[in-house]
Amino acid sequence: MQKSLFDEPDSTYSSLDELIDVMMKMDDDPLANAGTNVVICRGNPQAKLMIVGEAPGPQENIQGKPFVGRSGQLLDQILQSVNFDSEQDVFISNSVFRMPPGEGGKNFRKPTNDEIAYYKPYLFEIIRLIDPEIVLLTGNVATQSLLGLTGITKLRGQWHEWNGRKVMPIFHPAYLLRNPSRKPGSPKSLMWQDIQEVRRVYDSLVSERS
Ligand code: URA
Repeated sequence: MQKSLFDEPDSTYSSLDELIDVMMKMDDDPLANAGTNVVICRGNPQAKLMIVGEAPGPQENIQGKPFVGRSGQLLDQILQSVNFDSEQDVFISNSVFRMPPGEGGKNFRKPTNDEIAYYKPYLFEIIRLIDPEIVLLTGNVATQSLLGLTGITKLRGQWHEWNGRKVMPIFHPAYLLRNPSRKPGSPKSLMWQDIQEVRRVYDSLVSERS
C-alpha cells in the first residue's frame, strides 16, 4: 500500500540515542550553514505526552534544549497548571532542529516551508521512537509539519487522529506572550480550556490502561 505523505516513515533507527547521534552530526541540512546548533529534545522519553514546537530560539540555541527561554517558561507554567511536570510527564521537541538566523536586526526568523519539509522525517522518527499517546502541536509550524494543515486559530483545541495517536494543535506560547489578556475568548483563556481538555483525555487514557 502506498504510504501517504503524512504517514510516519518506515522505521530507520532502533533507539532515540542512535537518532540523536546522527542528528547531532547533520551537516547537509538547509540550516547547516547558518552557524546555529542542533537542538533536539528535553523531558522524559517514556512520557505519554509529547509537545512539538516550531524551532529553537536564541536561548535554546545556547543551551541546546528546546523551550528553555521565555516561551518555555510559559509552557512549563501551562503544564504545571494542570499538574504535568515538564521533565517527568512530558517529552518536548521541535519541527525544525536549528534556529533559523534572522535578518534586518532580528536574531531569528520563522522556518521556511522547505526547512519544515526537510526536518519532518526526523520529527516523525522521534515520535515513532517515543511512542506518545498524545501529541500537542504548538502553533502553525508544528501543525503544518505533522498534519499538513494551517490556521491555528480554527484548529486549536480540536483532536485529530494521527497514526493511532491523539493529536491536538494548541496556540504557541510565544503567541500568548504577545497577547497577555485573560478575558473570556482571549488566546490565554482558550489555552486554559485546551490544557484542561488534554489533562482530561490523558487521565482517561491512564485509567483505561490500569
Ligand atoms: N519556540 C519553539 O517553538 N521551540 C523552542 O524550542 C523555543 C521556542
